Amino acid sequence: MRKRPLGKTTLQVSELALGTWGLSGDGYGPVSELEVDRVIDRALAVGIDLFDTADVYGRGEMERRLGKRLKGAGATFVVTKIGTDLEGLPPTKRFDPAYLRTAFERSQERLARDVVDVVLLHNPTVAAMQAKEPLAYLKELKQAGKIRAFGVSAGSADVARSALRDEVDVIELAYNAFLPGDLHEVAGDVSESGAGVLARSVLAHGLLAGQWSADREFFPDDHRMHRWTRDELRTRLGQLDALRPFVSGAVVSLRSVALRFVLANRLISSAVLGPRSVAQLDQLVREAGMPPYLRDTALAELAGRLNQVGIEG
Ligand SMILES: NC(=O)c1ccc[n+]([C@@H]2O[C@H](COP(=O)([O-])OP(=O)(O)OC[C@H]3O[C@@H](n4cnc5c(N)ncnc54)[C@H](OP(=O)(O)O)[C@@H]3O)[C@@H](O)[C@H]2O)c1
Repeated sequence: MRKRPLGKTTLQVSELALGTWGLSGDGYGPVSELEVDRVIDRALAVGIDLFDTADVYGRGEMERRLGKRLKGAGATFVVTKIGTDLEGLPPTKRFDPAYLRTAFERSQERLARDVVDVVLLHNPTVAAMQAKEPLAYLKELKQAGKIRAFGVSAGSADVARSALRDEVDVIELAYNAFLPGDLHEVAGDVSESGAGVLARSVLAHGLLAGQWSADREFFPDDHRMHRWTRDELRTRLGQLDALRPFVSGAVVSLRSVALRFVLANRLISSAVLGPRSVAQLDQLVREAGMPPYLRDTALAELAGRLNQVGIEG
């Protein structure tokens, strides 16, 4: 497993990370506890040392499981996210330092770590980013040696830009062949600030694996049920044609094109994978391949083809 620097932090992390949202049962439907543990163990066995989670995933259960499985597993790094209060009805976003303090202490306990490697604000709005106290609080945690790095998991380029200008160590954002624009918009700010970038949703929630038919059904508690109308899904599946010419030689599948697209970007510190089984994890690790992931000429051609099907970089 190759490593990359996590931006300006001193951490060197595996360029593939294990994300735990899909394992939590939130978002994509249930996964057995046994399989969750098997996926974490398998990730360790293939050399993944970076684990992405959040306090809300499984209402803390994913942090708890990582705390247990990673104990004694050697040097590993955990990224967690805070800022969603599940105790209110409906759950609310809260980034005031008093709430963040409680949330952090709970995460730290579940993760069973004296020092948590990376803590991110979980999907703040642009308006929430205007208050300077939340990031100031995370900075305090870093100065006190309770965390190694801090930042923001951003749902848009505007939030990412605001975070980068506030000199965060790390940002996490969606980056994939169908959604290249947010990162490209803030690429200059990333380079200037030296922040590490964690790319999530590298398969566009599974779409880029190219295995779905237009009548694919999702279970009611699967977030994808509400993500695309039937027509939008048909359009999205048609856009996969832009990726097909790159399946050749070592690039054995659309999944491989999608993973290589992300890993070929030198701004990315780690691609956060979302497997829901050991079999999926093994496929992802195998098909990510090795450098050069996609040559510059292929990337330029891919950008052109994506543009032709309406995806702007
Ligand atoms: N705001 C945030 O901070 C935020 C938001 C989203 C995600 N994340 C993090 O990023 C991680 C990944 O995000 P994501 O779930 O959006 O990732 P993704 O990789 O785009 O999609 C994951 C989905 O792809 C499918 N998949 C996974 N491996 C596959 C394989 N080998 N072959 C075919 N399909 C495969 C699975 O769905 P099916 O097999 O059911 O089709 C899986 O649920 C999360 O676990 C979480 O840690 C963070």
